[in-house]
Amino acid sequence: MDLDQLAPDVDRIRQDFDDIAAFVDDSQPGWSRQVLSDPYLASRAWVRRAMEDAGLAVHQDEAGNTIGRLAGRGGGGALATGSHTDTVAGGGRFDGIIGVLGALEMVRRLRETGTVLDHDLLVVDFLGEEPNDFGVSCVGSRSITGSVTPAFFDQTDAAGLRLGTALERHGYSPHAMLSGAWQKGSVDAFVELHIEQGPVLERSGTQLGVVTAIAGIERVVATFLGRADHAGTASMTDRRDALTAAAEAILTVEQIGCTGESSVATTGSLEVEPGAMNVVPSLARMWTELRSPSAEWLGSARRQVLDQIAALARRRDIEVDLQWLNDQDPVPTATSVQDVVASAASALGHSWQAMPSGAGHDAAHMATLAPTGMIFVPSRDGRSHCPEEWTDFDDVGIGVHALTATLLELDGARAGAGR
Ligand code: GLV
Ligand code: MN
Ligand code: MN
Repeated sequence: MDLDQLAPDVDRIRQDFDDIAAFVDDSQPGWSRQVLSDPYLASRAWVRRAMEDAGLAVHQDEAGNTIGRLAGRGGGGALATGSHTDTVAGGGRFDGIIGVLGALEMVRRLRETGTVLDHDLLVVDFLGEEPNDFGVSCVGSRSITGSVTPAFFDQTDAAGLRLGTALERHGYSPHAMLSGAWQKGSVDAFVELHIEQGPVLERSGTQLGVVTAIAGIERVVATFLGRADHAGTASMTDRRDALTAAAEAILTVEQIGCTGESSVATTGSLEVEPGAMNVVPSLARMWTELRSPSAEWLGSARRQVLDQIAALARRRDIEVDLQWLNDQDPVPTATSVQDVVASAASALGHSWQAMPSGAGHDAAHMATLAPTGMIFVPSRDGRSHCPEEWTDFDDVGIGVHALTATLLELDGARAGAGR
């Protein structure tokens, strides 16, 4: 098959982006479509129809993932691709979405050119990739890969609602998710197309990123308990201020984040009670994460966070409770898939560079099931998780073409000679 003939129709992809962008939460800035929200649920029905229109046989698996199958010639494991269509609050139009809509356009071009693969091809819209109100991410891909436990569904949001209960209210079954792991061998390879979400490709003027590893993540909620007092009469030496303890902890976390290569630490959310200007805060709760491609750095940073927060809380006579949420080990992608992505990019005449991902992805979980790789396209100004997130549609098209070439090469790898 001539790869040029399989080039995507960029206008069609742009139209799909416009169509799905109609499903947004107007009460939030940007293009918000958070998991389990009404716009998200409506958009999933749209995705299902779009998959069917592209010629895929669609079903929802036990884990709540929407899966479109394009039948191949032979049995055996499938090739899989896809990503997510939920967003962070105040997010953008491309994170995750490119991996689902790009795969749809790829399928349309395969069908229009009469290209039939040997493998079945699966296009997956994974359920809830972004961290949700319950502090968990990648609900669908964790379930597929058998890494959820009953405790996962017992995590609660700020109002005390269990994740499992919230999922049930929306027709998803935690019980089925616990037994929804896909069989080893059911997938021969997984490739996720995604925006870079950082500045590396744009700065170097490179068209494609071949992802070598996906950063590991440690997430912690630290709750500081002090004592509410009158802000005018409690002397500076007598008070037990939970918020100043949290403030010191936030700066400590920032310093720890500065100590490792490609490693970062962020406190992204803070709650304060009682939350009045004239009352010394009795409670402060901070939501913090550490990320690194190095498991050693993550382990050491976690210990430092634990020790240094305990020490500052003792010094300030504040009680502290640390709740570590679901973590994610750093995941190297399969070198076999990296090689295929690089060779597909070169075959199309596109520049590429090898790079790690600082963002988390469903691919990190799929890597436990099958050889996995990722393809990045540039993000304007490196912006992401914000309304300004943008990738030029010509670059989206280059990514989709590279995804197609990669999957064809992976398909041929099993088919052997004659392709
Ligand atoms: C997902 O986008 C993450 O990296 O948090
Ligand atoms: Mn994201
Ligand atoms: Mn994403």
